Amino acid sequence: MKTKIIHENDENFSDELIVAGDKLNKGALVVFPTETVYGLGANALDSEACKKIYFAKGRPSDNPLIVHVSSLTMAENLFENAGEYFYKLALEFWPGPISFILKKHSSVSDIISGGLDTVAVRMPNNKTALKLIEYAGVPIAAPSANISGKPSPTRREHVLNDLDGKVDYIILSDDFPIGVESTVLDLSDEKPVILRPGAISKSMIERALGGLSIKIISDDEIKKQEKSPVKSPGMKYKHYSPSASVFSTSEDMTEKKICDFALKHGVSRNMVKYLSYTDDVIMARDLFADFRQADLEGYKIILVKPADGGELITANLNRLERAMEK
Ligand code: TXA
Ligand code: MG
Repeated sequence: MKTKIIHENDENFSDELIVAGDKLNKGALVVFPTETVYGLGANALDSEACKKIYFAKGRPSDNPLIVHVSSLTMAENLFENAGEYFYKLALEFWPGPISFILKKHSSVSDIISGGLDTVAVRMPNNKTALKLIEYAGVPIAAPSANISGKPSPTRREHVLNDLDGKVDYIILSDDFPIGVESTVLDLSDEKPVILRPGAISKSMIERALGGLSIKIISDDEIKKQEKSPVKSPGMKYKHYSPSASVFSTSEDMTEKKICDFALKHGVSRNMVKYLSYTDDVIMARDLFADFRQADLEGYKIILVKPADGGELITANLNRLERAMEK
């Protein structure tokens, strides 16, 4: 397939974006920038178009998709009575990096929900994305625009490497996204639970809900769910993993320590990529890009010293831990 590549800069929208929106409406696959990572979009009301997403990514079909909207009204057609937490949080954080899991409206297809009775909804904080959805005139189902199992795409070259030739349109942007995917907050039960930490942190959500205490799903709970109907299907799949083995350290590694580390793991020093982050925002922005770069350069081991503070710390450590799972 020949992919049409266009460039948007968030200030002036080109006529090509109108065409891409129209094609999206009519069943095309369109990669677009968001404030978190690039998304691979299809018309959420068109099951055949949504099926193509799974095929292009090589994604397991029971892993549901987030539906992206450009207005609250568009969101309201996707779920059954969302409740007061949703309205409070959407008012506070939308457009922004948080997806809400809600009881789905019967019109939302099983292709999107992966057979669950819920749907994930998000309004991205990116002008190009919002304009594209508006032009499409329909909600857009979009997972991260990477081949399944690879780190989410945070740079132009990542989407081009993964999806050029497999989709109808790729819309590129020069902006650096946040770099970690949206917070996924389950509001379908009585108590809100964070299924995936992101840039909207637990404490930000708790504050917005007047001090209500909320939980982040634990690894044990995720493991238990692998055996029964899964509430957070995305968590059971191997994720965010570069080909190199990933290790983490809380120590500042001197050259001598890195050599000892390499020896202990049976590789030569030049096979170890050491990534040391001091700032949580920069770690989020760069981690996936650094993973991909290390793979391109053929490293066998990536050793990461994560930034140890900041609002993004939980999201960063979560992505690092998932990358360490083999
Ligand atoms: O920032 C983001 O959320 C990006 C951009 C493109 O918006 N999208 C993204 O989508 O990360 P994806 O498909 O890579 O991750 C969606 C996560 C998966 O872990 C999936 O299992 C979960 O959300 N999810 C989607 N629908 C769900 C549902 N109904 N119940 C539970 N989890 C759901
Ligand atoms: Mg993904």
